[in-house]
Amino acid sequence: MGQGVLTEAFAHRDGALFCEDVPAETLAIAAGTPTFVYSASVLRDRYRRLSDAIAGCAGRIHYSMKANGNRAVITLLREIGSGVDVVSGGELARALRAGFDGNDIVFGGVGKTAMEMREALHAKVKLINVESEAELSLLNDIARDLGSVAPVGLRVNPEVAVANAHHYIATGERGHKFGIPFAEAGGVARVALAMSNVNLLGLDMHVGSQLATLEPYRDGVVRLSALARELRSAGVAIRYLDVGGGLPVVYDHDDVEPDLVGFGSIMRAAIKDLGLELIVEPGRFFAADSGVLLTRVLYRKESGGRRYVIVDAGMNDLLRPSHYDAFHRIDAVRPSGRRVTADIVGPVCETGDFLALGREVDDVVPGDLMVVHGAGAYGYVMSSNYNARPRAAEVMVDGHRHAVVTLRESHDDLMRLEVEDPNWRDA
Ligand SMILES: Cc1ncc(COP(=O)(O)O)c(C=O)c1O
Repeated sequence: MGQGVLTEAFAHRDGALFCEDVPAETLAIAAGTPTFVYSASVLRDRYRRLSDAIAGCAGRIHYSMKANGNRAVITLLREIGSGVDVVSGGELARALRAGFDGNDIVFGGVGKTAMEMREALHAKVKLINVESEAELSLLNDIARDLGSVAPVGLRVNPEVAVANAHHYIATGERGHKFGIPFAEAGGVARVALAMSNVNLLGLDMHVGSQLATLEPYRDGVVRLSALARELRSAGVAIRYLDVGGGLPVVYDHDDVEPDLVGFGSIMRAAIKDLGLELIVEPGRFFAADSGVLLTRVLYRKESGGRRYVIVDAGMNDLLRPSHYDAFHRIDAVRPSGRRVTADIVGPVCETGDFLALGREVDDVVPGDLMVVHGAGAYGYVMSSNYNARPRAAEVMVDGHRHAVVTLRESHDDLMRLEVEDPNWRDA
């Protein structure tokens, strides 16, 4: 297994790891461990790089906040011009609280409830991407009840081959649960046209995450723009082409940098003839390299010939290694230079609770700090209270400044919603 890749913002200086201009040791003292640490400069850099790549395309970047919905993260991205893509009423509420307007928001998701549709309509979101005829029909009913007209995109499954890291994050192949099967999309569009309270404005796809090549994008947008052309000639005013997220990041040396220039050319070609507006929904590409998970070594031990380093971050904090078999580079904050091979595991009562297996790492001792790289996307948002473990703190760093932006949960927080004295009733 490789040793992973360091991002520009998290590097060792004079023997210890810094986040931008702040020593990781300072952050561990300020916030404790485990703590997610985010770099403002990486977020700004990724936004700028993608904006440059799609320069000349009408449309907008809508950061997919499922990757990292931290308020400081989404506020920063809003301030530099990003819209947001949400997939639940909860994400919508968080986006509104962070200052996004309805027009900044695209609402997606395969199982929207009636309540979520109402919330999206109240917020006057820019687009609600629907994934089935049944959902379209419910949305039409709800919009009629509210006396409004829902701005709708059809999420179409373009049914393309998706080469990516893990089959859990491929979403645009034939038979996946997402989107309207390609052959049925034209028919659903005609149904939408006949409805009084939906306004069909867009076509949408999201073919997968951590896409290793551009082919799924190319194949997908070719299919979607052909459909858009067909619908335009049938009188549908398709305005938006939403191509979802999926741009990859380099977790390990085997991973490839996204070809942003190629991505931009594909998108320009797809929207040009029809004069469509492009919507891009990157999540991981913005957030993954912006964040690390800072953790402290609790114990070392050996068992049955294996060496273990037990740290205070577990699968409840960062699920990706056990859920997706994901690789994250792990370093000592203050490396000694001596190397050992060990399993880096957490305190959770599961054999599947690990951050890395059989990994060559620095020969850390209890009390040392370690850092798990590439943890900014699908990290904190997938964390849980399993084993009644309070969720970690989150810290933002910007140059030499740093701030705790989410407090560590307390034991009281864990029990906040419990009903002390349940009110039993007869049926
Ligand atoms: C509809 C949609 N858009 C965007 C994304 C973000 O994907 P990524 O983080 O790979 O960019 C996802 C991820 O699941 C998604 O489902």
